[in-house]
Amino acid sequence: MRILIDERKIENRVKALGAQITADYIDKDLIVIGILKGAVLFMADLVKKIDIPLSIDFMAVSSYGKSTRSSGIVRILKDLDEEIEGRDVLIVEDIVDTGLTLKFLAENILSRNPKSLKVCCLLDKPSRRKVAVDVDYVGFEISDEFVVGYGLDYAQKYRNIPFIGVIDSNA
Ligand code: IMP
Ligand code: MG
Repeated sequence: MRILIDERKIENRVKALGAQITADYIDKDLIVIGILKGAVLFMADLVKKIDIPLSIDFMAVSSYGKSTRSSGIVRILKDLDEEIEGRDVLIVEDIVDTGLTLKFLAENILSRNPKSLKVCCLLDKPSRRKVAVDVDYVGFEISDEFVVGYGLDYAQKYRNIPFIGVIDSNA
């Protein structure tokens, strides 16, 4: 495993994102929606750095199965528990790659008439984008490499690694 972004760097960036979100959402009715399962570790650390009252909820959507490439087919596996109409929604994602998952999620959430919708992702791979999506808060931009750790998986493994890494191709 090669370390791409170490724990210290992640921690500092999450702290800065939390401060920015705190400033942007003062006096708002913030609901943070984490996209399972990849965003769980990032979301847990991020909300601890947001210093205003907020709610959290989760959605799960199907992604790649065991493959590393997007099929473009997105399905809801677990829907929200909370009503979001009239509320200020922040989607928290692990990574925006082709953008297909986020495009689906944003359209789905906007159809429920939130007051506002913004997106925060830990990682952004802009070179792989297939559809245009708005991302308001980005942890780190990375190049086209398949990464794991800090919530991100390969075939459901490696999510518990505390840094962002790249699996060695000869391993
Ligand atoms: P998109 O629909 O292509 O933007 O893909 C988004 C989803 O694909 C993410 O939420 C991840 O679950 C997964 N994904 C994309 N790139 C990677 C990667 O490098 N490592 C692990 N998962 C990834
Ligand atoms: Mg995901």
